[in-house]
Amino acid sequence: MNKDTTTGGEGHQGNQLGTRHAGTYRTVRYAPERYSPERTAARAADFHALLDGRRSVRHFSPEPIADAVIDDLVRAASTAPSGAHKQPWTFCVVTDPALKKAIREAAEEEERENYSGRMTPEWLEDLAPLGTDWRKEFLEVAPCLIVVFKRAYETKPDGTRRKNYYVEESVGLASGFLLAAARNAGLVTLTHTPSPMNFLLRLLQRPENERPFLLIPIGYPAVDCEVPDLVRKPLEEVMVRY
Ligand SMILES: Cc1cc2nc3c(=O)[nH]c(=O)nc-3n(C[C@H](O)[C@H](O)[C@H](O)COP(=O)(O)O)c2cc1C
Repeated sequence: MNKDTTTGGEGHQGNQLGTRHAGTYRTVRYAPERYSPERTAARAADFHALLDGRRSVRHFSPEPIADAVIDDLVRAASTAPSGAHKQPWTFCVVTDPALKKAIREAAEEEERENYSGRMTPEWLEDLAPLGTDWRKEFLEVAPCLIVVFKRAYETKPDGTRRKNYYVEESVGLASGFLLAAARNAGLVTLTHTPSPMNFLLRLLQRPENERPFLLIPIGYPAVDCEVPDLVRKPLEEVMVRY
C-alpha cells in the first residue's frame, strides 16, 4: 500500500461508494474495527498504561533511529484532525550533527536569557522542581530533532494567500500524535520550547508562512536516564461527568 495516501481523500477503510455530497470529496464507507465490551475495556486500559509510561526525557543516548521509523512517526502525526483538513504543519527532521550543534547553541543563548531574567519569578519557581536550566546538551546528543512548524497560511501558485484555521489546535494535536507514536515505538521525546524560537526559522531556512511551534528531540534514553518523580492528577481532578 502506498502510505502517502493518508493525506489524500482516498480512504482505505472500505468500499468506495463514489457518491458525491454537496462538497467535493467523494465519500467512502467507514467501518472501523469494533471490539467486544471486554476487549474495548482492555484496549482502553492498555492504551492508558502505554501513555502513562511516557515521560519527558532530557538525557538521551546518541544511538541513531532508522529514517523509516521517523517517516512513520511523522506519518502518524500527520493523521491528526485539522481545521478544514488543512494539515497546517511541517515536520523538519534534523540529524545533521553540525545543524544540531547550531540549534543547541542558539537555543542555549535564548534559554540563558530566559533563566536569568526573562522568565517571571513564578515561572522559575514552577520550573525549579524539574531541575531544568539553560543548558541543552540533549539537543546535540539526541540522534534526531523534529522541529514542528505551524503554517499560518498557504500561498497559492499565483501568489495569493489562503487562510488556515485553528492552526494552534491542529498542530498541537499533531504534535501529541507524534509523541504518542514515539512512545508506542519505544522511543522517548522531550517537548521543548526554547522561546523565542525564531532562530529555528533562520537555521532551517523556513518559508515566510511558517512559525516554529515545538522542538522535539527524539531517541532512546541514556542508560543512566532519570526523570522527575512527578505525579499526574487523578481522574476526579481532570474529569467532570454530567
Ligand atoms: C508546551 C510545552 C512546552 C514545554 N517546554 C519544555 C522546555 O522548554 N523544556 C523542558 O525541559 N521541558 C518542557 N516541557 C516538558 C514539561 O516540563 C513536561 O511535559 C512536564 O514536566 C510533565 O512531565 P512528563 O512530560 O514527563 O509527563 C514542555 C511541555 C509542554 C507541553
